[in-house]
Amino acid sequence: MAGILERIGDSGVIPVATIDHAVNSIPLAAALLKGGLPVVEVTFRTGAAAEAISGLAAKFPEMLVGAGTVLNVPQAEQAVAAGAQFIVSAGFSSGVVQYCLNKGVLVIPGCSTPTEITAALEFGLKVVKFFPAEIFGGVGALRALGKPFGQISFIPTGGIGFHNLIDYLALDNVWACGGSWMIKPDRRAVTRLARTTMSEVLGLSLDREIEGALLDEIEAIFNLSIRERSAPAGALARTKPDAAVGAEAYLIVKTRSMARAKAYLQREGIAFFPETGATSALTPASIRLKRKAGDLCIRVVEE
Ligand code: 3PG
Repeated sequence: MAGILERIGDSGVIPVATIDHAVNSIPLAAALLKGGLPVVEVTFRTGAAAEAISGLAAKFPEMLVGAGTVLNVPQAEQAVAAGAQFIVSAGFSSGVVQYCLNKGVLVIPGCSTPTEITAALEFGLKVVKFFPAEIFGGVGALRALGKPFGQISFIPTGGIGFHNLIDYLALDNVWACGGSWMIKPDRRAVTRLARTTMSEVLGLSLDREIEGALLDEIEAIFNLSIRERSAPAGALARTKPDAAVGAEAYLIVKTRSMARAKAYLQREGIAFFPETGATSALTPASIRLKRKAGDLCIRVVEE
């Protein structure tokens, strides 16, 4: 259960999908995975939800498949029987929460008021949904709630998109954000929007200008866009950053979140060397890039 919560935090975003026909969920999930997003919440707003969840759970074991808009215990039972790995509700139902705790299934109830958050604390929950986030005060409300409820983290959902995603993720008490901004009928659009989402979540940037071909190479490795800083181009550093990497020169790629960057690199099958061998999420990661002109090390560090 804790592992599932960590994987949600590592992805940074929960795509929320409402599926009319279960068969449509497979290409949608494939498109999200291709875009670097390994999580989906299928809402119980249609009769296709349970079938979609069981189909996705069987087809994509690498994906976290959860159920959303779960209003009552019978729906929670249906979702868990279908293979949902987490249960999300728009509001707080003590019956749904107790059922999930008994079953050992992660539950993320909607808690937008101090009273609902207090109820979640009484059940020992550490992460709740904040819905509808923008209507209920957005970033300012979460900052205010963080004062009396420092032990709770939120998954704000409702009205989130590229215009405010980073503002939410920058808050210490935001575990991840939920939303439907990347869910479109066209699967290529889903992949593109998922990739843009991951680019925003990781916020990769270079600390200098580099030649276009090298930037293309690095973007192709990450499969994400990387911003360049306005610092003038200069010779790449020649110090060996890590004996295990053994490259002759290195480039620094900065990220907003080292933990999410590492999880992303692992999910995408990009081999990296955790420098110093420490377990801290802040430990840099190094990627070796073989080039004609001599190997290059890409060192990923948190801003
Ligand atoms: C939800 O159920 O969590 C919301 O419908 C998602 O909200 P959004 O569509 O505004 O992203």
